[in-house]
Amino acid sequence: MKRNTVTGGILFLLIACIPHGLIAQQKHKLRRDPALLQTIESSLRESVNQYKALARQLPPGQMPRTWENGRLMTVANNSWISGFYPGALMYLFEFSKDTAIQREAFERVALMEPMKNLTSHHDLGFMMYCSYGNAYRLTGNEEYKKILVRAAQSLATRFDPRVGCIKSWNGIKSLDGKQYFTFPVIIDNMMNLELLFFASKVTGDAYFRDIAIKHSETTLQHHLRPDFSSYHVLNYDVETGLPVNKETHQGFSNNSTWSRGQAWGIYGFTMVFRETKDKRFLEAACKLADHFIDHPNLPADKIPYWDFNVNQPGFVPQWNYDPAKYPEVPRDASAAAITASALIELAGYVDKKLAQKYFGAAEAMLKSLSSPPYRTSGTEAGGMLLKHGCGGVPGNVEVDVPLTYADYYYVEAMMRYRNGK
Ligand code: GLY
Repeated sequence: MKRNTVTGGILFLLIACIPHGLIAQQKHKLRRDPALLQTIESSLRESVNQYKALARQLPPGQMPRTWENGRLMTVANNSWISGFYPGALMYLFEFSKDTAIQREAFERVALMEPMKNLTSHHDLGFMMYCSYGNAYRLTGNEEYKKILVRAAQSLATRFDPRVGCIKSWNGIKSLDGKQYFTFPVIIDNMMNLELLFFASKVTGDAYFRDIAIKHSETTLQHHLRPDFSSYHVLNYDVETGLPVNKETHQGFSNNSTWSRGQAWGIYGFTMVFRETKDKRFLEAACKLADHFIDHPNLPADKIPYWDFNVNQPGFVPQWNYDPAKYPEVPRDASAAAITASALIELAGYVDKKLAQKYFGAAEAMLKSLSSPPYRTSGTEAGGMLLKHGCGGVPGNVEVDVPLTYADYYYVEAMMRYRNGK
């Protein structure tokens, strides 16, 4: 733990940390459900115990990925999901002030430091802002700030002004294997922009912010359909700057709405509106959210199927899909957790009627996530918090399992909800 962690933390919290849930609740005097508040309080307390159990099983140098067939599956620090565990620990430390959680949080965050130089894909925002971003938010530690700025510089190397986007992956085959995408950009990339906005704020260098805004504008122009559903992967031609393919990698079909992609879009555009106050981004966030919440295929418990269009007429998978393998369409708890967290913030930027809609939807999601069949009990999943997430169904990876990022956004959403008092 760095020198000024605790004292700096208290000071920094006092001067700089206004939870986004608080904005919504103060602005519109939204009533929080006392029963849900109680549920959240006990879920957070239980999460602290569960994450202590998780920490005990975690090999040195590793981060949790999922729990499958009775085993904890882990990743090293170079995975896109590596920042979520230290980030969730930071929130749990903020909640509990538990010293064992604090030690684990600051030890694991330190594992992320070498990743500040990573330039081989776009996930620096997820990796560094969820981990070091939260560590900096809680401590104000200057070293953490420097690491974050360096990570933003690494991410910025992937921006191409001809396209107006950060390139997500270096190159990848289309799901049907027939094409090769040389400038793929995925909707998830909106999430990585928060690191860039942060870097501009702390350095005074507008470049990071400028490219984040440009990426958002390009995404707004090409990545969303007229009904404000979203494509997953766009492949751009760097000569014309235009998309030449609009497909999916993790969704059901090229014209479907992959639930987590939609969730990334809601969260991403909400965050970009927070940082820019540009109404175009607020409108996008709201319409993406409306598409999610009002979708006729959203189940009554508000936890989406892994894709909104599975088995729907007119949606043809480009991968080896066998419906018999899935007697029930799997849900994706991670998409609900991300969306719940985003909606609590979004409720603070809209009129009271819409605020009630978004806040109410977030409450419904949080209630479901906090109950069976989604919420784990004790160490049934090694200490991971949520069941029924889907990583990548077309690749048969992590289908209907706990996911570290589902846990992260669930804890974040609970913190946003509870901190509104
Ligand atoms: N960014 C990868 C995912 O959401 O699965």
